[in-house]
Amino acid sequence: FTSPTGCPISPAAAAFDPFTGPYQVDPAASLRWSRDEEPVFYSPELGYWVVTRYEDVKAVFRDNLLFSPSIALEKITPTSDEANSVLAQYDYGMARTLVNEDEPAHMPRRRALMEPFTPAELVHHEEMVRRLTREYVDRFIDSGRADLVDEMLWEVPLTVALHFLGVPEEDMDTLREYSIAHTVNTWGRPAPDQQVAVAEAVGKFWQFAGTVLDKLRKDPSGHGWMPFGIRVQKEQPDVVTDSYLHSMMMAGIVAAHETTANASANALRLLLEHRDVWEEICADPSLIPNAVEECLRHSGSVAAWRRLVTDDTTIGGVDIPKGAKLLIVNSSANHDERHFDQADDFDIRRDNASDHLTFGYGSHQCMGKNLARMEIQIFLEELTRRLPHMRLVPDQEFTYLPNTSFRGPEHVWVHWDPTLNPERVYP
Ligand code: HEM
Repeated sequence: FTSPTGCPISPAAAAFDPFTGPYQVDPAASLRWSRDEEPVFYSPELGYWVVTRYEDVKAVFRDNLLFSPSIALEKITPTSDEANSVLAQYDYGMARTLVNEDEPAHMPRRRALMEPFTPAELVHHEEMVRRLTREYVDRFIDSGRADLVDEMLWEVPLTVALHFLGVPEEDMDTLREYSIAHTVNTWGRPAPDQQVAVAEAVGKFWQFAGTVLDKLRKDPSGHGWMPFGIRVQKEQPDVVTDSYLHSMMMAGIVAAHETTANASANALRLLLEHRDVWEEICADPSLIPNAVEECLRHSGSVAAWRRLVTDDTTIGGVDIPKGAKLLIVNSSANHDERHFDQADDFDIRRDNASDHLTFGYGSHQCMGKNLARMEIQIFLEELTRRLPHMRLVPDQEFTYLPNTSFRGPEHVWVHWDPTLNPERVYP
């Protein structure tokens, strides 16, 4: 094997497979060899150059002209003709949103749509997030056993996402099925027979997004980011286009929902596996905000992101040709000893935890980061207060949806003795 630049490919680079095995178990650990020996390598399996060190990943995020985000939502596994014809039947037209939009279109759109993400606006959502969280905990608090993902961490961020976007709450179960399909479609490696089913779900999701958008257009006076976008479109139709609104109606649900659900599930798994840390935050909730940041660094929910190289360049001293595709592995960057001391340790007092690249960096950095932080903080505040004595069910195997980018355990089983619930002991 040689790379597109004619360089020999090392056995480790040739063996890199992000869809199975060690990367799925622990992406950062699976790429330690790369951070140490070959921080930028070509993966013949993927057809991507893989970037794994902190400084290099950050430098790529920083320059969105040389490293275009246009391929961020491209299907990483090319789909079969059959799947493509299914998508065509649904007029599937996912196009540019924000995350995959180039300049000069991106920045004016980002600015025009920023207001709902400002701290002053986010405050209005706090009560809704807390109310939902309490309702979901109420449902299982007396049962002594729960799958935190199925019974809370999946649904609450979905409901919050729908509220934030201004979508009516109905059709949640359908959406749940659809959004997973979008993840597999974009970042996964579905088998040929699975591809058609995935395409069906993606096509339906796309049509559903269009229906909801039409509903909102009839009365765009309501709260939420999509009605806000529809109102901005009236003033700035070239900045906020129809194609943007339809694409964002679909991509926005995934951006706001799965990222946060997975981040919360990662955080709960990590904290409960470090019992001493869990007990510390139960005793002192003021530790929670930095603990959230450290969870996002140590076990982030976006493991890798993508960029397209627009001109011949070098990354970490390696020549990279124009047109090359990059997989920038932010989960690996977050465990780089060159930036984080004892990077594999889980340390909720780490003073540079928030330097993590889980939200990306630079002009495309996640707009929803403070909404996500607020949600995870509230989940931890409520769970540490009401279920400090819960423990992970021993010997459970954590499973992950195979894909390069969206990462979180599919189930996190916990158990506890309900007679010891603080609200029963100290009513
Ligand atoms: C962009 C991660 C939650 C909305 C991004 C990017 C990442 C990311 C990696 C690309 C950054 C880049 O290219 O530099 C996450 C994670 C989340 C999360 C890990 C949860 C823990 C949310 C939420 C929303 C949201 C709750 C709310 C709607 C967006 C938007 C962009 C974005 C609109 C595009 C920004 C742009 O390109 O200008 N996010 N996200 N995200 N995220 Fe998030």
